[in-house]
Amino acid sequence: MKIENIHFETIDSTNTWVKNHAHELDPSGITCVTADEQTAGRGRYHRTWISPKNQNITATLYFCIEKGTPYVGNIPQILALCCVRLLKDLGIRAQIKWPNDILAEGKKIAGILCEVVDLQKCLGIVLGIGLNVNMNEEVIATIDQPATSLFALTGKTHNKKRVLKHLVQEFVTALPLLQKEGFAPFYAPFSKALAFQGEEVTFFNGVKTVRAILQGLTEQGHLLLVLPSGKLQEVSSGEIVFS
Ligand code: BTN
Repeated sequence: MKIENIHFETIDSTNTWVKNHAHELDPSGITCVTADEQTAGRGRYHRTWISPKNQNITATLYFCIEKGTPYVGNIPQILALCCVRLLKDLGIRAQIKWPNDILAEGKKIAGILCEVVDLQKCLGIVLGIGLNVNMNEEVIATIDQPATSLFALTGKTHNKKRVLKHLVQEFVTALPLLQKEGFAPFYAPFSKALAFQGEEVTFFNGVKTVRAILQGLTEQGHLLLVLPSGKLQEVSSGEIVFS
């Protein structure tokens, strides 16, 4: 698959830029948009994504898929899994906080924001990832949730370009498999990486939070929760939050 790179020294948000320029980007390949600095980096549920200049990976992958494909919700999960694989290759055991936050030592090392643009001929996927690479403990302490970085975990600075290339390579291998076979080939590795299984968690459904036991994953990558009433509930959106 053809990969085109676009880099900005400073941009508001790589996701916002891609959303605004999707119609100009190659619909047959992958465009990888990166920035040294985002002035308005966005997270899920209108959160701000903090990433000091030059320290971390802030990137958005853009590509097109056929309208009506059933696995759109799995795309950010697959990128999360690719991130777990990348971290494993770097000697770090990572887990996934459903649906697509990446944790190392129980702290967030990467977050993913997947948005879509409805184009005439296809659905544009705007897949943003923030991966904490060289951020030090002092900066990490300013983040309002438990966070970490490759530097904090290994004591070494890492080459951001090389790390991103590795991640993109993992993703370009995984995406065609998802397109061909759906979530099935990813079910077992994703389940293995899923954090908090069997534990009581706080689940945010976009409106309110509930406490529940995280039972596991469905074959579609949805989450199975046991509510305090004992009822089993399957959810396809929302997120586990730090509690
Ligand atoms: C989250 O954890 O809530 C998602 C964070 C996603 C951050 C990345 S950084 C690159 C891309 N551009 C953005 O504005 N957000 C995503």
